[in-house]
Formats: sequence, structure tokens, C-alpha cells
Amino acid sequence: MLTVALPKGRIAEQTLDIFGEIFQSSFRFEGRELILHREGFRFLDVRNQDVPTYVEHGVADIGVVGLDVITEKELDIIRLLDMRLGKCKVAIGIRNEDELDWSRPNIKVATKMVNITKNYFATKAIGVEVVKLYGSIELAPLVGLADAIVDIVETGNTMRENGLKVAEVIMDSSAHLIANQNSYYSKKEEIFRLYEKIKMVVENGNQ
Ligand code: PRP
Repeated sequence: MLTVALPKGRIAEQTLDIFGEIFQSSFRFEGRELILHREGFRFLDVRNQDVPTYVEHGVADIGVVGLDVITEKELDIIRLLDMRLGKCKVAIGIRNEDELDWSRPNIKVATKMVNITKNYFATKAIGVEVVKLYGSIELAPLVGLADAIVDIVETGNTMRENGLKVAEVIMDSSAHLIANQNSYYSKKEEIFRLYEKIKMVVENGNQ
């Protein structure tokens, strides 16, 4: 049996739809249930940020999580497949009336993604003061908590509606299928068989 950690919400539903298509059956978490047993799989409904924890600890053999989270947490996992779901960008945002001034000695940046931010500014050899926030990041430059933000941009609506613009794109992200290192070897055939089926659905764009 394979245990699969899924990020609560749309990505979990879309991933379960892919399983539904593969096995010609309905895959859905019922009500508030956090575990779903179906067709020899056990699915766990967890918070997006927690998916890597379940997979790294080997409680889940595989999982689905954004490339941004994989990069931010510098995970010790195996990346199997780009699921092409939840496409978004990690970008630097500033106020519409501002310009990103790279010559400033220290730029103050608010973000959830501290490592991605530090690494990006380090590659540009620019000093950065990172202010860690847990949500509503777009607020920070509006009230003077930071000069810029590093955040996820999907439709761009949140930035637009708050008078912010994208100054630079740091990376593209989308949901990826990942595997625990040990599971990948001990359950290689099972994982590979599933990987092949998911890959076929993803590549046919039938989600
Ligand atoms: C994410 C992200 C942006 C928003 C981007 O926030 O942090 O705020 O979505 O999406 P958009 O470009 O389509 O507007 P989320 O909804 O996860 O809330 P949070 O900021 O409170 O974590």
C-alpha cells in the first residue's frame, strides 16, 4: 500500500481527480475526514506546508507539493514529476509608484519564503533584511514594514488590488509529485507503476 500526502484544497482535489481517471472510480475526502482509503492507496489531507514533513519522515511514501515549498525547505526527497497543477510564480513585488533600487545598501523584504529570498538576493550580491510574515504579505510595503515583498503570484489580483506590481520574477512554480528516499527504493515498483499512470494523464492534459 502507498500512502499519499496531499495539500488540502484545490490541488488535493485535482490530484484525486487524476487518480479517479486512472482507476475509473471516485476519489474524495468525505466531510472532515483526513484519511481516505481507496484502491489500495491511503491519502492524507494535510496543510500544503506540511506535505514535505509527512514525506521526509516516511509517514507518507509520496506527496504532492509546490516547487516553491520544495525549494524553500531544501528538502531531502526525490522529485518525480511536474504535475502541471497550481502554476504560479515567486516574484518580488513593490508599490506601483516605486522602482526596485538595487544600489541601496539594505533592502527590507517581507516574505513567507525566507530562504528563497536570501538566496536570490545573495546571488545578486545585495544586502537584504528579511522580515518573516505568515500571510497577507502584500500589506507590508503599504504600511512601511518593508520596501518590497517576495510572494506567490497566481492571477496577480492580490498585488493589483493592493497597488503593487511585479518587479522581478524569481522562479516559476507548480505542484510536483515527490517521494520519500527510502520508499522510493523499498516500494520502487509500486511507485514507478503509479508514476507512469499519473504521467500519462498529466501529459494528455486530461485533469
Ligand atoms: C497567496 C499569495 C498571494 C496570493 C496570490 O496567498 O501569498 O497573497 O495567494 O494569488 P493571486 O496572484 O491569484 O492574487 P494565500 O491565498 O495563500 O494567503 P496568505 O497570503 O494569507 O497565505
